[in-house]
Amino acid sequence: MAVTLKTADELQKMRVAGRLAAEVLEMIEPYVVAGVSTAELDRICHDYMVNEQKTIPAPLNYRGFPKSICTSVNHVICHGIPSEKKILKNGDIVNLDITVIKDGYFGDTSKMFCVGDVPSHARRLVQVTQESLYKAIEIVKPGARLGDIGHVIQQYAESNYYSVVREYCGHGIGTEFHQEPQVLHFGRPDTGMVLKEGMTFTIEPMLNAGKHHTKLKSDGWTVETRDGRLSAQWEHTLAVTADGVEVLTARTEEAF
Ligand code: MF3
Ligand code: CO
Ligand code: CO
Repeated sequence: MAVTLKTADELQKMRVAGRLAAEVLEMIEPYVVAGVSTAELDRICHDYMVNEQKTIPAPLNYRGFPKSICTSVNHVICHGIPSEKKILKNGDIVNLDITVIKDGYFGDTSKMFCVGDVPSHARRLVQVTQESLYKAIEIVKPGARLGDIGHVIQQYAESNYYSVVREYCGHGIGTEFHQEPQVLHFGRPDTGMVLKEGMTFTIEPMLNAGKHHTKLKSDGWTVETRDGRLSAQWEHTLAVTADGVEVLTARTEEAF
């Protein structure tokens, strides 16, 4: 299916779903500490979504994914499966990726958490990755092109001596989890689809401390860096407005 442009009514539903996804990340923050298992974080988020928010956790049973959130620790790039055996320890960095469905619409967002005392090289990777997302968001408006987004991220990542994961990308989003277009996190300016008011999509750059190559684990989901070095990811769901962008999954701590 081609790119859909959302009406004002649809955008309002995307706003609600986006805010709810952001609220899961705000809720879970105090629980992301050394000693907790990623399965416990999944349970807390699941119960909050289902019982408090009355949202549907989109990952659960999505193409066979077995849990309600993704938990990607250290060298795991994305799609980590929560597990009782994976206990967070001091110095870990972890991405929690939340996607909720409310009233038929999806909100998709992720952020990095630092567990205890994280070494400065890891904190820097986390921060540069977040900044790469913010720099991309800043240029979103009608008339900008997808290649401009990819270029801004790649340029910033590589000027900081990090690499950009190629195999996984942002995506259109609405009444389905993953819609057109694909939003690559690398590219050339003035290329690719031209953005229009009413488009909704995610930007979710994955930056690696080492090389960009990935490895899919035998569980069929967990994506790791091939060289075993650290990776970080941040994600927002956005809407293109008449003159710029609205961040549908903004958290209270963020000022857009
Ligand atoms: N939330 C992820 C994304 O940003 C997709 C996760 S698919 C899952 O697109 F099945 F692993 F949950
Ligand atoms: Co996404
Ligand atoms: Co996501």
